[in-house]
Amino acid sequence: MGRPGMQMETWVLFVAFGCMCVGQALADPLYFVPVPAVWESGAQVRFCASLLKVDKNDKHKMTVTLLSPELNTTLLQKESNQDFHTCSTFLAPLVIKDTVQHFQVEVIGKKMYSRETRKVLIRANKPVTFIQTDKPIFLPGQTVYFRVVTMDTKLRPACRKVSDSIDLIEPQ
Ligand SMILES: *[C@@H]1O[C@H](CO)[C@@H](O)[C@H](O)[C@H]1NC(C)=O
Repeated sequence: MGRPGMQMETWVLFVAFGCMCVGQALADPLYFVPVPAVWESGAQVRFCASLLKVDKNDKHKMTVTLLSPELNTTLLQKESNQDFHTCSTFLAPLVIKDTVQHFQVEVIGKKMYSRETRKVLIRANKPVTFIQTDKPIFLPGQTVYFRVVTMDTKLRPACRKVSDSIDLIEPQ
């Protein structure tokens, strides 16, 4: 994984709630990029990135990328020779079924190179369909009107094909 002319350090990973990762090599900068392990399709995801103990004479570049087979998206790119703490939000990709993608954090300095990739689960919104009638009780021969509404788990309108016919079952 090392790059020519760059020294690959041994990184110690601690995995705590969700996907919090900490990378550290002796006397090298320390970085944290906690992110939830499970995202909801299309929902806002927030993450913060910290780089600490940076050598003032060595500019470090941090790149946070979401990798998917079709598209790599850069979520954050920051170059600094000072410590920083920055937060950012983005929208999770829209998926139609639960999907695993990879969240990658790369930190490059003159004397260090680190790349970590974590799996994140993107949960598809399973829509729910509500069917209502215009009245609770009907007399024989009356027309029954239906209202059919489909919503996702955040109560936003969603698209879903429902059956073309509805069966009515009499109570008796
Ligand atoms: C995304 O990045 C990975 C690792 O850097 C690379 O192997 C892959 O080809 C890239 N995929 C796309 C679609 O650009």
